Amino acid sequence: IKKITTETLRKMKFDKEKITMLTAYDFTTAKMVDAGGVDAILVGDSASNVMAGYETTLPITLDQMIYHAQCVIRGVDRALVVVDLPFGSYQSNPEKALESAVRIMKESEAHAIKLEGGKEVEKSIKKIVNAGIPVMGHLGLTPQSIYQFGTYKVRAKEEEEAEKLISDAKLLEELGCFSVVLEKIPAALAKKVTDSVSIPTIGIGAGPHCDGQVLVYHDMVGMNKDFSPKFLRRYLDLYTEITGAVSQYVKDVKSTDFPNQEESY
Ligand code: KIV
Ligand code: NA
Repeated sequence: IKKITTETLRKMKFDKEKITMLTAYDFTTAKMVDAGGVDAILVGDSASNVMAGYETTLPITLDQMIYHAQCVIRGVDRALVVVDLPFGSYQSNPEKALESAVRIMKESEAHAIKLEGGKEVEKSIKKIVNAGIPVMGHLGLTPQSIYQFGTYKVRAKEEEEAEKLISDAKLLEELGCFSVVLEKIPAALAKKVTDSVSIPTIGIGAGPHCDGQVLVYHDMVGMNKDFSPKFLRRYLDLYTEITGAVSQYVKDVKSTDFPNQEESY
């Protein structure tokens, strides 16, 4: 199997081949997602929501992210594995950012890290890239800043924020980021960004013109009944499937249908 690298993704943009990415947080899921053929797997800090049940991505710790990354990497043969630096592990100073990134790379053997922001985290990105660690950027709706935004609505609809986003994307490219996630911004702006940088843009709620797409695994397989943003396409209704299977199991045990003779020793 030919492993996907950051260089592969760069080449895919050049060749106009779309890049596919999904999240995973555990071994078994990572195996299935890799077998399905995605190019990259994100161990997102969305684990804070979908794995731990927190309302935001803020509470998850670096140790917890490393645990998820270790589980995922054991299940992956082909995809590039990118791990989110969690809130608080890189914003305070560049040395701490580098330390956090090094811990992820060393302890999980993942292939790259991702962090949120542009100009504000310039020094941290420089430091991590200089250490030889591939960095993916993340602009637009950056969930670690949710308390500053106040809502999960579309970002950069106004001129000023859109201009900053474009200049941040160019800065990320200059700093040596290998790719950038664009979350929940107008499709026209995502196109403009995609056309103005040579590094691949990976969109979520950012329209069809990005070089690639990413979704949260639990959302795309329909495990989250109550999360239905317009940008989400559900490929399965696993919430219904799984609760149905569980209730059938409960019935079978209660009625002594399970286990039967063949299922017994
Ligand atoms: O944590 C995450 O799942 C993400 C994606 C939504 C891009 O950052
Ligand atoms: Na994230």
